[in-house]
Amino acid sequence: MTFEPARERGRTPGRMRSAVLGVAAGAVAVSAFIALSGTADAASTLGASAGASGRYFGTAVAANKLSDATYVGILDREFTMVTPENEMKWDATEPNQDSFSYADADRIVSHATGIGARVRGHALAWHSQQPGWVQNLSGTALRSAMLNHVTQVATHYRGRIYAWDVVNEAFADGGSGARRDSNLQRTGNDWIEAAFRAARAADPTAKLCYNDYNTDGQNAKSNAVYAMVQDFKSRGVPIDCVGFQSHFNAQSPVPGDYQANLQRFANLGVEVQITELDIEGSGSTQADAFARVVQACLHVTACTGITVWGIRDTDSWRAGGTPLLFDGNGGKKAAYTSVLNTLDGGGTSNPPSSSTPPPPSGAACTATFSTNAWSGGFVTTVKVTAGSSALSSWSVGVTLPGGSAVTSAWNAQGTGTSGAVQFANVSYNARVAAGGSTEFGFQGTGSAPSAAPTCTVSLT
Ligand code: G3I
Repeated sequence: MTFEPARERGRTPGRMRSAVLGVAAGAVAVSAFIALSGTADAASTLGASAGASGRYFGTAVAANKLSDATYVGILDREFTMVTPENEMKWDATEPNQDSFSYADADRIVSHATGIGARVRGHALAWHSQQPGWVQNLSGTALRSAMLNHVTQVATHYRGRIYAWDVVNEAFADGGSGARRDSNLQRTGNDWIEAAFRAARAADPTAKLCYNDYNTDGQNAKSNAVYAMVQDFKSRGVPIDCVGFQSHFNAQSPVPGDYQANLQRFANLGVEVQITELDIEGSGSTQADAFARVVQACLHVTACTGITVWGIRDTDSWRAGGTPLLFDGNGGKKAAYTSVLNTLDGGGTSNPPSSSTPPPPSGAACTATFSTNAWSGGFVTTVKVTAGSSALSSWSVGVTLPGGSAVTSAWNAQGTGTSGAVQFANVSYNARVAAGGSTEFGFQGTGSAPSAAPTCTVSLT
């Protein structure tokens, strides 16, 4: 959701002014100033930068691309987690009943091990990509076949998998909050917990995840998954993690409450992982969206890592949307720089294309904020200051605590109202002279933000 700046351009609105003046008079409860800045270490990589906070940065890998030198060069340099894109699915690993085929998946696992990367196993039980013989089964025969599959595959990879997507995409889209109808679901509602128990018995060392899409914000589908995880935890069904696929585009953008949604699952006592990230688009819009996702993960302690769903745009399952971090030639996109800089601590430069020269050394932009809070509400004023180069546009990410919401903003265009909220310049304050600054503000309900804002810019 986006909202327009609510007040007269360039001026502090009367109602807001009184709140800010209240601070000067010492009448308001909280005042905090936080500054942050930073530029990426040019020598760093996605994996190394994520590793600095104890997280991994992974990618989906296709076995048939392991002979592509450009592909492998990027894989080996940048990534610390590997997910076989299709090679561990049921149709690949058990093409005929009780006849297992691990060659392609083994090649990927072996390659990952060789570069010191870990492996996310994907996926043991799923309604899609089932071999023909499974599609022809039902009832107890299908239930037994599913449990045998989980047991055999998890046993084959025992001790070599960081986390398994034990069950993938078992909930319906839309507002029903129901399970997806599938042959597996028709074997009985307990098929999911049966799969998790079989996986735990076969490989007690792997973390066991439930993985899905369209669960990235709070909605009927994610509420249903949340209720299942809560139920599993209360009954001792083994579940360790929830995967949020995070396939985004213009029709399905990064939700405003993305971070809050990750956090509420984390609060159930599971790890959360971003498992199949891709964002269609280009330039700074795409780069900013990637930054928001990375920032959300960094702000959730139990978010242990991020996996992008492929390496180059041309490797993607939706290549036409150019949704990844490397272009078809293996060049780093603006989205790559944005992700790396966000991993390196925010206050980042965000060039619109890979041909744009890097920003000068030192911070390209800093964001400081002051917050004036009272019971049930707050006003936050943010000051954006340019580094040694003029800015041609800027964007600031702010993370709201769970239950808080932005109700209005001035001198900036907001996207989202809760969780990770992004504020972009409006036309009249896009340009900031070198060393100069501009201010914007927002009002909200609930508790005030306390985490440091991140500032991303385009230089002139
Ligand atoms: O390997 C065959 C090839 O021999 C054949 O000539 C060709 C003709 O269509 O098909 C090839 O197989 C394709 C396979 O990808 C490998 O490229 C399948 O048709 C195609 O359906 C399959 O698509 C995969 C898709 O899952 C299937 O559902 C994508 O690569 C894969 O990225 C995608 O991944 C899923 C996740 O597992 C779960 N979440 C959603 C995500 C995106 O759909």
